[in-house]
Amino acid sequence: MVDKSSQSQDREKYYITTAIDYVNAAPHIGHAYEKVAADVLARHNRIRGREVFFLTGVDEHGSKVQKSAEAAGKTPQLFCDEMALKFQSAWKALDISYDYFIRTSEERHGRVTQIIFARARDKGDIYKAKYLGLYCEGCEDFKRERDLDANGLCPNHKVPPKQIEEENYFFALNKYKPILKEWLVNNPQAVQPESRRNEVLKQLDDPELGDFSVSRSRSSLTWGIPVPDEPDQVIYVWVDALINYITGIGFEEYVTGAQNGAGQFAKFWPANLHLIGKDIVKFHSIYWPAILMAADLPVPQMIYGHGFLTVEGQKISKSLGNVIDPVALCEKYGADAVRFFLFAGTPFDQDGDFSREQLVKKVNAELANNLGNLLNRTLNLVVKNCDGKVPNAEADHNLREIANSIHPVIDEHMHKLEFAKAIEAIFALVDQANKYIADERPWTLFKEGKQKEGEKVLFTALEVLRRSALSIYPFTPSLAAAIWHQLGYAEVISVVGEVGEEKHFETIPVGQSVRNEGPVFRRIEEAVVE
Ligand code: ME8
Ligand code: MG
Repeated sequence: MVDKSSQSQDREKYYITTAIDYVNAAPHIGHAYEKVAADVLARHNRIRGREVFFLTGVDEHGSKVQKSAEAAGKTPQLFCDEMALKFQSAWKALDISYDYFIRTSEERHGRVTQIIFARARDKGDIYKAKYLGLYCEGCEDFKRERDLDANGLCPNHKVPPKQIEEENYFFALNKYKPILKEWLVNNPQAVQPESRRNEVLKQLDDPELGDFSVSRSRSSLTWGIPVPDEPDQVIYVWVDALINYITGIGFEEYVTGAQNGAGQFAKFWPANLHLIGKDIVKFHSIYWPAILMAADLPVPQMIYGHGFLTVEGQKISKSLGNVIDPVALCEKYGADAVRFFLFAGTPFDQDGDFSREQLVKKVNAELANNLGNLLNRTLNLVVKNCDGKVPNAEADHNLREIANSIHPVIDEHMHKLEFAKAIEAIFALVDQANKYIADERPWTLFKEGKQKEGEKVLFTALEVLRRSALSIYPFTPSLAAAIWHQLGYAEVISVVGEVGEEKHFETIPVGQSVRNEGPVFRRIEEAVVE
């Protein structure tokens, strides 16, 4: 038995978060894209032995959600309860292994938001003034004239922004701009990819970016967290939303010293990675670190703004009717197929397209044909010629070199969020192995009585399969688990990181009985595609 308690003390921590989605509408494939990406990183880090905390959830406050609830004829809380369930079932269908699902309407989050607000206000970084300006409810963001299109409309939502004139609270961003600039210059990793980092550096040089309003009067917005000691003011939804990242790992418990959970915040903060879309980089790279600095808390290690997905070449929108329900998609193709397709091909920092036709093509070619057949062929031969056991042989030198190098190669790509390259590396190895078998013709070797030579080929193939299962696990967890099981392991693949990776990264145990239980991945038949 492995002593997990002693091991956990020196395990490295990894805290990853996603954006929390607005619950005004049901989740779509764009939201799914980000959650799966975070899950890939969470699983990768777990299998590498790190102690992972993976936080996701929903953003429930603000005028946009309040309006949607009104339109649905429901109270905001009831509306949010129902919508939150939809997000949770979508993430379940996609095998998202989050550790906590945060909802910003949960009570402790209200208290944490107030603690942070009060800290900044006590310091003088949040102060009262008159606000006069424009606001787009679709963006939940303030606008200047120059942000609008030729017709005076918000370019994202094609509606005129609201005129707001109120006495409310402001955050002293101007005070933090030079500090933020210095942080970004000294920490190139802090905002990635590079193109997003450059955007943020430019924004910080814009004299028009300055103190911003962080509360609204209750008369214009009721659905939100009240300003401490001033219940007729409601905290700006973005300030509330960003604070979820510390609520979710027990900031309140840390502050109050509560027995369960106090250590979580101390262990996991600051976040290793905030994973978000390219449209909300400003909030995460400027507002959020400034708020943390005002509250005397460390800033996150990395913020990554990924590209956007289109569907069959078009922007995802309700009016175009192309909003794909991730649950229906998983029912049709299986979670592994959807997850795999999302990252096989599209560089994560750029925009990509989701197409069912491409999904079927890619998944059939790589998962069913290349990887699935390699396993099938190999296990059939092992059963027929080696008594169903891993033969005692040495792997082919050339292939073993490639197989051994995949571990650091995958680490490097994952570190840079280059998922497509990681997948490419896995299939380069699988292709090599398929080619090797075709060239060596082990079935002929066995027929000719060349047992040792045949065993060498099969051992090599088993080694490649073992490496491939470990490498592809973050993308296609069920498929990898099935391969791992058929290779004969007693432990499930998901605990490999916990029991110590060393044990599993050396070689496949000689004499281990394989389980030849049929295809691990079935081709998607063309008829499935409408
Ligand atoms: O912005 N492709 O919520 P949201 C890829 N509540 N990603 C997409 C996408 C697409 N087509 N559409 C949206 C919010 N996203 C705030 C976040 S975080 C403290 C608060 C991404 O529901 C988007 O970039 O509008 C964001 O990261 C996430 O989905 C939620 O978007
Ligand atoms: Mg949005």
